Amino acid sequence: NPCSACLLVWDLRFWATCPSSSTICFLFVIFAVSTIFHCHRRLALVPTPWAYAGRVVLFPRHLPAGGVFTINAKGRLGNQMGEYATLYALAKMNGRAAFIPPQMHSTLAPIFRITLPVLHDATARSVPWENYYLNDWMEEQYLVRLTGYPCSWTFYHHLRAEILREFTLHAHVREEAQNFLRGLRVNGSRPSTYVGVHVRRGDYVRVMPTVWKGVLADRDYLQQALGWFRARHRSPLFVITSDDMAWCRRNINSSHQDVLFAGNGRQGSPARDFALLTQCNHTVITVGTFGIWAAYLTGGSTVYLANFTLPGSRFRMIFKPQAAFLPEWVGIAANLGQARETRAPRAHRPQ
Ligand SMILES: *[C@@H]1O[C@H](CO)[C@@H](O)[C@H](O)[C@H]1NC(C)=O
Ligand SMILES: *[C@@H]1O[C@H](CO)[C@@H](O)[C@H](O)[C@H]1NC(C)=O
Ligand SMILES: *[C@@H]1O[C@H](CO)[C@@H](O)[C@H](O)[C@H]1NC(C)=O
Ligand SMILES: *[C@@H]1O[C@H](CO)[C@@H](O)[C@H](O)[C@H]1NC(C)=O
Repeated sequence: NPCSACLLVWDLRFWATCPSSSTICFLFVIFAVSTIFHCHRRLALVPTPWAYAGRVVLFPRHLPAGGVFTINAKGRLGNQMGEYATLYALAKMNGRAAFIPPQMHSTLAPIFRITLPVLHDATARSVPWENYYLNDWMEEQYLVRLTGYPCSWTFYHHLRAEILREFTLHAHVREEAQNFLRGLRVNGSRPSTYVGVHVRRGDYVRVMPTVWKGVLADRDYLQQALGWFRARHRSPLFVITSDDMAWCRRNINSSHQDVLFAGNGRQGSPARDFALLTQCNHTVITVGTFGIWAAYLTGGSTVYLANFTLPGSRFRMIFKPQAAFLPEWVGIAANLGQARETRAPRAHRPQ
């Protein structure tokens, strides 16, 4: 850390000059305080909490000469996990060092034991970056140096073990989820199978029909998805997480006594919900990258909502289901009736 190094040097001068003059001593204190203040302001941009401090590059001259890769930190948890894993995979494939922005560190480091170092904003600004726009699937052109590298349909599946390691939960995050699951009972006994269910609604309730001409998971989908597991496991317990718990309570039939509403309904606890999902054995997801990541890391059986946009939707140009969902996952087709209604209200439908 360059600031503590500076302070160490100034400290030595302090002891050398202080006895000769109290004025110098006083000036030095002013100087030291302003230096600390300056350092603090610079470092304030570096992600907190300090408990999860990453290696931070503060000066461009500390970057490897061969060129480095970084990526934007856009979206919330699920998106940033995708950005992180993609950066990790592409940098590795191209033999370059990878650095993440501080915002990404702030999002991921409190939850996961990520290892990529952080590029300070000021440093990043001084680098003449060359931008590559990435589609949401892997393409040959992203291989800047190597071609024909055996990669899967996604960016990082060939590095699955490393990606799982990067997204290892911090012990305390994992413990909290485990303690919660340990306390749950089905019919008085501890379930042997936990199925994490993620029901994404929130802003998608508006965006999905209007922007993407699609639908969200409905009550029927969830009934089918839960039924898929009930048919294959003895007494599974479904742990429901959602950003809209009120909707879940109204639409998920809990009369089987095997459904537990775990989320607190607020968007403020993505870490807790995410940890709960990944500590379960299997996953049911609806839409969004949060669910896809939870399922990917959990690694058990996954049931997902398939074909949830109308054929003409722009969503189909930016999203390839076969690149997002693993082939072994089980898709249940969405009922697009609601989307058709929205697109062509009955009154205006041509006869
Ligand atoms: C709980 O026990 C009852 C009575 O034995 C049984 O009918 C029911 O299927 C059990 N529920 C679950 C979720 O295993
Ligand atoms: C919930 O499931 C039970 C048992 O399958 C069924 O009898 C009941 O009608 C269902 N309730 C709703 C609201 O679908
Ligand atoms: C299922 O998940 C629970 C809770 O994390 C765990 O204790 C158990 O070992 C898992 N079962 C299997 C077969 O992995
Ligand atoms: C989704 O649509 C595609 C193309 O029409 C089809 O091949 C696929 O089977 C559908 N998926 C599901 C789960 O119905």
